[in-house]
Amino acid sequence: MPLALVTGITGQDGSYLAELLLAKGYEVHGVIRRASTFNTERIDHVYQDPHEPDVRLHLHYGDLTDGSQLARLVRTIEPDEIYNLAAQSHVGVSFQQPEYTGNVDALGTIRLLEAIREAGVDTRFYQAATSEMFGDAPAPQSEDSPFRPRSPYAAAKLYAYWATANYREAYDLFAVSGILFNHEGERRGKTFVTRKITHGVARIVAGLDDALYLGNLDAVRDWGHAQDYVRAMWMMLQADAPVDYVIGTGETHTVREFCDAAFSHVGLDWRDWVRIDPAYYRPTEVDFLQADATRARRDLGWKPEIGFDEMVHRMVVHDLDAEAGLDLERAREQATRLRPSAPPRPTP
Ligand code: NAP
Ligand code: GDD
Repeated sequence: MPLALVTGITGQDGSYLAELLLAKGYEVHGVIRRASTFNTERIDHVYQDPHEPDVRLHLHYGDLTDGSQLARLVRTIEPDEIYNLAAQSHVGVSFQQPEYTGNVDALGTIRLLEAIREAGVDTRFYQAATSEMFGDAPAPQSEDSPFRPRSPYAAAKLYAYWATANYREAYDLFAVSGILFNHEGERRGKTFVTRKITHGVARIVAGLDDALYLGNLDAVRDWGHAQDYVRAMWMMLQADAPVDYVIGTGETHTVREFCDAAFSHVGLDWRDWVRIDPAYYRPTEVDFLQADATRARRDLGWKPEIGFDEMVHRMVVHDLDAEAGLDLERAREQATRLRPSAPPRPTP
């Protein structure tokens, strides 16, 4: 039975990856942070009591800032594959916590790579790199595009990207970076813009909010569904050789278009409900991300299966149910009775 160690297992991607690996017959070891409240909501449905027989999901306390524990986990578990998904992953927050973001996202990766090197285990390593590293490089961005990071988060992830490449070359480690473009879904954190919007739609329909406050509506992103992207992570570690890949759909939308798609799902005009709060603007913005994932399609045979419209649909339907207890039909009916309160329409 193959053994995988997953950092960031309680996150969006970690939860989908854990499901995928368990379905493929892996024994999965996940690293979780100690918190004063439960932070395992996304993996509760696959959690197994350790006292049950044939348990294949094991959780261990750990933190990317705690190198000795990472070393202990790698040494004792001896995983065949390691997926480093843990990160302070919010670009906006990284401007407020640049030092912490660097400690976790950059140095944390080095701590894990060092743990592998020192333990001398024969393992394959996946690093969660990001399209943010491209910053304002011309679109579409491929593996050959220049890196021009525009945030502390992107700079930290770029450090981790080069560290991964260096350990591959210096120590002959099967270590790869997946340069993943934005991927979303029903489990996306509620402070990322897509989920903030679909969650906001549900709260407005439920009468809990009368406005949704956003920042830059002009940003263009290449949004896919996280379930497709964790499959790409696994495929990269099954390849014959360690190669970095760009993963994305190639299709782009503005934040404004995402608003339009989500609000119109329930028959609302987004312009009546969305307001601009400059607090959400970033000191430097990444304006246009579009993936050229030709290499992944050609070498790995990877392609996305969930399109933009289906993704928005799934997220809206999920949030209507979770937040308002409504199905789409009843939500649309309820939305006809809503009246916007003094809507200052943002500039189109
Ligand atoms: P996410 O939902 O924010 O999950 C981040 C995970 O990292 C959570 O499990 C979190 O634990 C954990 N974590 C945070 N700080 C940690 C620390 N100091 N030590 C140990 N664990 C820590 O992120 P995601 O969307 O699943 O993304 C997964 C990875 O892919 C991240 O590295 C992200 O930067 C990268 N990435 C994401 C995207 C995307 O569009 N989603 C695109 C490219 C790259 P808690 O649950 O306790 O907070
Ligand atoms: N979060 C947020 N909140 N973003 C907003 C808002 C808002 O209220 N209003 C507008 N935006 C804009 C941001 O300025 C950005 O241009 C865009 O919406 C997307 O923001 P996020 O959803 O926060 O994602 P991101 O692109 O900054 O970063 C995500 O994707 C990266 C891959 O490119 C994260 O998942 C990163 O971890 C990931 O590496």
